[in-house]
Amino acid sequence: MLELSKRLSLIAQFVNEGSSVCDVGTDHGYLPAFLFLSGRCRSVCATDINQKPLESAKTNLKRLGVDGVRLVLCDGLAQISRADADTVIIAGMGGEVISGIINRASFLKDHTVSLILQPTTAAKELRLFLAKNGFTIEREKAIAENGKIYSVMCARFKGQPYDIDDVKAVIGLLKNDSDDACAYIEKQYRIAQKCAIDLSGVAHKQTEYKHYLNLSEKLKNILGG
Ligand SMILES: C[S@@+](CC[C@H](N)C(=O)[O-])C[C@H]1O[C@@H](n2cnc3c(N)ncnc32)[C@H](O)[C@@H]1O
Repeated sequence: MLELSKRLSLIAQFVNEGSSVCDVGTDHGYLPAFLFLSGRCRSVCATDINQKPLESAKTNLKRLGVDGVRLVLCDGLAQISRADADTVIIAGMGGEVISGIINRASFLKDHTVSLILQPTTAAKELRLFLAKNGFTIEREKAIAENGKIYSVMCARFKGQPYDIDDVKAVIGLLKNDSDDACAYIEKQYRIAQKCAIDLSGVAHKQTEYKHYLNLSEKLKNILGG
């Protein structure tokens, strides 16, 4: 059986049994290969905007003896419809790119479609986009891999835009209940603390300074003082 990295393994765990899955920006194709081989999914397809990664996915799928994954060359979900997928994975891209892909795919505005999202950067901007556009984050877990820390979130369209506070924007649903979640929160704490220190002596940036100071204190409290 194909062994996934810790990050991809966590994403795979978020996929429900019997789902029809589309992996957007698949690159190597390991995730759709694993999902297909697991026999847990009704169907699996994958897209990539670039020919080269799609070729590498094709090579890997062939090597692994996977013959049932449809590979599609397209931007995001441009060639994919609700009939192809009830679960959409968008992983390993920046939060703004992920937001753009969601924004351009109207079939995601359906409460029966699950989104599994793993931004490499700009997770805060992605959470703000989801809130503004009526997508609720239902589950979130952190995962550390190769010296980096990521968040994997499961979201769904509920239709009602909502506000999120500054803490939720930077850590989402994470709590201090695992080493990886604590590492994620700690990273956000350090970023807020550094912003506060950098702004402390800048006379015209006192509002921002107070914001980051306050945010760093709240994150420190979540970490347990
Ligand atoms: C860093 S790789 C991530 C691969 C895999 N999803 C993972 O998490 O390991 C990013 C991939 O996304 C693809 N990509 C970037 N923008 C895209 C878009 N708008 N639509 C589809 N694929 C895209 C790139 O070509 C690249 O293969």
